[in-house]
Formats: sequence, C-alpha cells, structure tokens
Amino acid sequence: MTRKFKEEAVIIRQEEIANDIYSMWLHTDQIAESAQAGQFVGVYCRDGSRFLPRPISICEIDREDQAIRIVYRVAGKGTDEFSYMRTGMPLYVIGPLGNGYPKRTEKAFLIGGGIGIPPLLQLAKELDCEKEIILGYQNRQVFLSDQFEQYGNVHIATQDGSLGVSGNVLDVIRDKQLEANVIYACGPMPMLQALKRYAQEKEIECWISLEERMACGVGACLGCVCKSVHKDEHTHVNNKRICTEGPVFDAREVEIG
Ligand SMILES: Cc1cc2nc3c(=O)[nH]c(=O)nc-3n(C[C@H](O)[C@H](O)[C@H](O)COP(=O)(O)OP(=O)(O)OC[C@H]3O[C@@H](n4cnc5c(N)ncnc54)[C@H](O)[C@@H]3O)c2cc1C
Ligand code: FES
Repeated sequence: MTRKFKEEAVIIRQEEIANDIYSMWLHTDQIAESAQAGQFVGVYCRDGSRFLPRPISICEIDREDQAIRIVYRVAGKGTDEFSYMRTGMPLYVIGPLGNGYPKRTEKAFLIGGGIGIPPLLQLAKELDCEKEIILGYQNRQVFLSDQFEQYGNVHIATQDGSLGVSGNVLDVIRDKQLEANVIYACGPMPMLQALKRYAQEKEIECWISLEERMACGVGACLGCVCKSVHKDEHTHVNNKRICTEGPVFDAREVEIG
C-alpha cells in the first residue's frame, strides 16, 4: 500500500475544457512522487460545512515538477466550489488513495466513458504496449481525446452519433473488429458491466475502476463497499472497500451484475 499524505497543494492552473468539465494542475510536495495511474486524491473544500474530501482520479502525474492533474465535472456544491478556484490558491488534498491499474505488456484496450476517461490518460502514458483507446461521450463535446493520440489508436463513440461511431464503446469494438488481450476501463456502471461480460466471453483480463459515494476515503467507515467474490480481510465478509482495495479491481473479483 502506498503512503498517503495530506498536504496543502497550490493550484498551478485551471481551465474549463468542456461544458462544466474542468482541468486543474496542482503542485504537491509529496503526492506526485508516489502516485500511480488509477489512484485518486481526496480534495477538501474550503467551505467548512462540507468537511469530507471529494474523491477525484489522478489524470496525469508530472513527477519532475511535483504536480498532478485532475479533471472533474461539476456535480454538486463541492466541485462547483473547485471550479471557481484560481492559479496560486491553496487547496488541501489527501493522497494518493486506493490502488492503481496493474501494468501488463500485452495489447490493451483502454476504455473510458464520460468522466471516467481522465484516469486512463496517465495509464496510456505509462503502459508500454500496443493500445486501442476507446472513449465514449454523450455527444461531440469531447475532452482529452486529442491528448490520448500520442499514446495509441484513439476511437470515439458518441451516444447521439454526432462524432465517431454512433453508440457505445462496445459498438466501436464490434464495428471496427478490434481485439486485445487485456482491458483497462473506467466509466459508468452499465459500461463496466458490459465490459465484464465481454471479457468473460473472450476470456481476457479486465481491470475496472469503480466509483461509489465516499466518506472517509481511507478505509475506516465502510461507506464505499461493493460485493466481492472473496472475503475481505478487514471485515471477513464478501465486501471490498472501493477506497482502499479499489478503486481498480479485477472484474472477476467484484459482483457488479
Ligand atoms: C474513486 C473515485 C474517483 C472519482 N474520480 C472523478 C473524476 O476524476 N472526475 C469527476 O468529475 N468525478 C470523479 N468522481 C466523482 C466525484 O467524487 C463526485 O462527483 C464528487 O464527489 C461530487 O461532489 P460534489 O460536492 O460536487 O457533489 P455532491 O453534492 O456531493 O453530489 C452531487 C451529485 O454527485 C453524486 N456523487 C457524489 N459523490 C459521488 C461519487 N463518489 N461517485 C459518483 N457520484 C457521486 C451525488 O450522488 C449527486 O448526484 C470520482 C469518484 C470516486 C469514488
Ligand atoms: S469511504 Fe470510508 S471505507 Fe471507503
């Protein structure tokens, strides 16, 4: 398990990269050094009435300049508050939290849906293998897709058919007859369920990142459990804490339907 740090980070820059989607680079003293692709940070609000940190995936890591990038959608009061923050402002963050993606060397699918796309960018940078990167969006308001291009073959799916393949990420695989030996995915639950089934049919490895509402973010409150095939060492029941045993799981290990 990686050591976690709570620190006062400083905002290097923040910009809106699509409607209500923001990219923020943060200078950290220690988090960037040990963070891995697929891990997340807890970002604290400055408004004291919202004391629990908001879990946000690490999108990119710049270890040389001790910086991390997060990309988030404004979903409620906490993320709305972050969206008004400017360069030079301090922000408390805790991390790196959870476990990242294991890195294989066989040909890989990197599959992201909506706001699940950000953590795959750092993974795309780090994986040393052939990559088919499939990004699913609602419509042509895409984000980050251009930055993936230097790391593999990028394919886009849009639900409304306004860009790329019309439909979802599995429609891309079928339409283009793509194949790979391992899947890394992050996105909405129906997408992860479909990918789990696809991986079972094809008998390939599938690593999925799960999201759940979180409270402590560090394994203490059991507020984020999902059903697992094997018993959890901590509670001795068929549960896994997404914040500590996840968010990345072998799809065979978790019961997501
Ligand atoms: C491991 C992990 C990684 C995440 N990474 C990202 C990311 O990279 N970018 C991003 O935009 N969001 C990410 N999320 C979701 C993000 O944590 C929530 O959108 C955020 O906490 C909402 O906070 P808020 O105060 O703005 O909204 P709230 O007022 O707390 O809630 C507003 C809405 O967001 C929903 N929500 C709250 N918490 C979560 C959650 N944990 N998961 C899903 N929905 C939630 C609520 O049900 C509600 O509908 C991640 C969540 C987890 C668990
Ligand atoms: S959020 Fe508290 S145990 Fe996961």
